[in-house]
Amino acid sequence: MSDQKINSERRNLILATSAAGGVAMAATAVPFVASLAPSERAKAAGAPVVADIGKLAPGEKMVVKWRGKPVWILRRTPEMLASLEKVAEKVSDPASEKSEQPEYARNTARAIKDEYLVVVGICTHLGCSPSDKIKPGAGEGMSADWQGGFLCPCHGSQFDLAGRVFKAMPAPTNLEIPPHTYLSDTSILIGEDSKEA
Ligand code: FES
Repeated sequence: MSDQKINSERRNLILATSAAGGVAMAATAVPFVASLAPSERAKAAGAPVVADIGKLAPGEKMVVKWRGKPVWILRRTPEMLASLEKVAEKVSDPASEKSEQPEYARNTARAIKDEYLVVVGICTHLGCSPSDKIKPGAGEGMSADWQGGFLCPCHGSQFDLAGRVFKAMPAPTNLEIPPHTYLSDTSILIGEDSKEA
């Protein structure tokens, strides 16, 4: 065998070995990355999700999906919080005694931190998605004394800015508050209570 042929066979062998090494690296890298994030199936089954609220301005609302449900996070202004007292006589369960919610949300604002409403955006009547009617007054088609809240388009249930249902509405209870905990000032874990709670 000539020197030239031996060299060319060695070079092919080296190339083949490095290519196989590359494949092996790629194959081991994928399961490692996949193991860091909960699978889509795990999320649908109920794995908690993290909501980044760092960019949520006062008065704004964002939506996070948890267990296939929309979870609303509304950053309430002092005026919005003041509206909760104004409608206390008009809502059917002001202290949320009949409602689905964790113990730490059993207060007027129905929240761990008054500023943030974290609530499942599904009507407790037949499961429609209520619309935002956040601005007070008649501007969004509500009555002149409207203080801000949500309106379910299906059968007309109205909720205040803490998700409390008004009296004589089809929805039997306030909107559900999901289990949640603050991981920091700018992130909320939806779907899990604080370990210290
Ligand atoms: S589903 Fe909301 S009022 Fe009926």
